[in-house]
Amino acid sequence: MKSGNTLIPPYGGELVDLLVSPGELARLKSYANKLPSIQLSTRAVCDLELLAVGAFSPLDRFMGKQDYQRVLDEMRLTSGHIFPIPITLPVEPGPAIRLGQEIALRNDKNNLLAVMTIEEIYEWNRDEAAQKVFGSLDLRHPLVAEMHRWGKLNVSGRLRVLQLPPHHDFQELRRTPAETRACLESFGHQNVVAFQTRNPLHRVHEELTKRAAEEVGGALLLHPVVGMTRPGDVDHYTRVRTYKALTERYYDPDRILLSLLPLAMRLAGPREAVWHALIRRNYGANHLIVGRDHAGPGKDSQGNPFYGPYDAQELAEKHSEELGVKVVPFRMLVYLPDEERYEEVTKVPEGAKTAAISGTQVREEYLNNGRKLPTWFTRPEVAEILSESYPPRHKQGVCVWFTGLSGAGKSTTAEVLTVLLQEYGRHVTMLDGDVVRTHLSKGLGFSKEDRDINIRRIGFVAAEIVRHGGTAICAAVSPYRATRNDVRNMVGKEHYVEVFVDTPLEVCEDRDVKGLYAQARRGEIKNFTGIDDPYEPPRHAEIELDTVGNTAEGNARQILDYLLEQGFVRQSVVVSDDAADKKHP
Ligand code: ADX
Ligand code: MG
Repeated sequence: MKSGNTLIPPYGGELVDLLVSPGELARLKSYANKLPSIQLSTRAVCDLELLAVGAFSPLDRFMGKQDYQRVLDEMRLTSGHIFPIPITLPVEPGPAIRLGQEIALRNDKNNLLAVMTIEEIYEWNRDEAAQKVFGSLDLRHPLVAEMHRWGKLNVSGRLRVLQLPPHHDFQELRRTPAETRACLESFGHQNVVAFQTRNPLHRVHEELTKRAAEEVGGALLLHPVVGMTRPGDVDHYTRVRTYKALTERYYDPDRILLSLLPLAMRLAGPREAVWHALIRRNYGANHLIVGRDHAGPGKDSQGNPFYGPYDAQELAEKHSEELGVKVVPFRMLVYLPDEERYEEVTKVPEGAKTAAISGTQVREEYLNNGRKLPTWFTRPEVAEILSESYPPRHKQGVCVWFTGLSGAGKSTTAEVLTVLLQEYGRHVTMLDGDVVRTHLSKGLGFSKEDRDINIRRIGFVAAEIVRHGGTAICAAVSPYRATRNDVRNMVGKEHYVEVFVDTPLEVCEDRDVKGLYAQARRGEIKNFTGIDDPYEPPRHAEIELDTVGNTAEGNARQILDYLLEQGFVRQSVVVSDDAADKKHP
């Protein structure tokens, strides 16, 4: 077989390989288990993996101070090689963080990954890094925000890697740079064009990639990121299923290689595009597609994009020759419905009708409503996978959280609501504060701390129920605003409906269903909400209920109406065209 890409050596000449030999492994392992350990973040684990396999060649360690500073200032290592993104290992000071110390690097499950010899320890400046790498201090940039949680010191030194971070998903698609190169060489093309992505692939991406492969007359390396992407992105399991479906059916198998990249993206736009080029060179590509808003972080707190739509193209082009990676640039591609084809916006004929669907629209207008994505936008196989992962609202989970004073009428209303929702076909779990205290929270008292724990436990269970598409109805006093906000975040704000049962204290005390107010007034119960402990009313509850003027039934129906309007409950079963066709062929 013709050896295609021996003309494409790694950037810097040779691939770094940090894995110890099998002979050394056993010895180093027993030694490492006696060393002090640090637990790496998900990001550091991704970085370590790519360092180990040579994806960041010629970089062979987390950066020391000089490399770090020059990367910030000039996008170069001290060796002179281009490197646009600082790769650092930030830690908090501690007894094990001292020069000459060897430390074991472990993942979140405490698996031993590597041994580092600490050769450098240095402070770094968060604002300087943010300004130089991301061009912004705005906390809406996910990485600028994340950096606030990083350790104050960077450590660097020789790395000996005992094992790569284990992956159990899509193993057949995970390849090191060396393995990727071997596959690409067997294709026998002189040129390889890489495509970077963190999104499900739609027709527009199919068009970009096919045009690019045609243009360079070579193979396509479809190289999606499966490490860390932008918060809120479609999860990688769903995305990889779409990539597999597409490549199997719509691409020439002799020209495409689908391979997963466990990269932790920085969303640094222009700098990131240069980094992507360098990384892909190491995986055996000599071209990279860079379209509109490559590796963009979204909008800043003023609502403006962090980078210009083609800044990334420009910077990658500037360094293209030195990296040995040509940029295959694309202006924004749009669909021309009348001609049934895609075209770059700059080449659209005057007055022609164009169509596009944004990522937000895909989610909100199509998937949430159970509407099928049109075939001009997405291949049916991909649409099917997406609709499976993002079912319509009435099949998504929802949490109805009642808050209010003891005796306000939370449980009573919740019980009616439970029955009504079941009438409409939802599966409901009721988590009542008092009931939960007999099992899940048995033994907890009524101190501020114990009450918080109780609420968080209910929140945790509710979040799990919601994640699996169920309905959780929770009724607990939940007096503290901060704790309720935590629960809202645990469940996910789009699936959380707060119901404030706004019954005045006098009414609750007058009802005194459980006799608790009387006890609290006599001082037999301490820290009783409304008596000698505060109730912080919600400021923006989705629903507020009046239990004095309305019945429990009426209030429950008010909530039901809200859920119907939001789509969490379906008015009546509509038989879709598909299903009807199957019944009457
Ligand atoms: S990225 O963060 O990984 O760059 P994404 O997966 O959305 O994001 O894009 C992958 C690549 O396709 C990028 O180079 C991007 O510029 C390009 N791209 C995506 N959509 C379009 C489009 N409509 N027109 C032109 N280029 C696009
Ligand atoms: Mg994008």
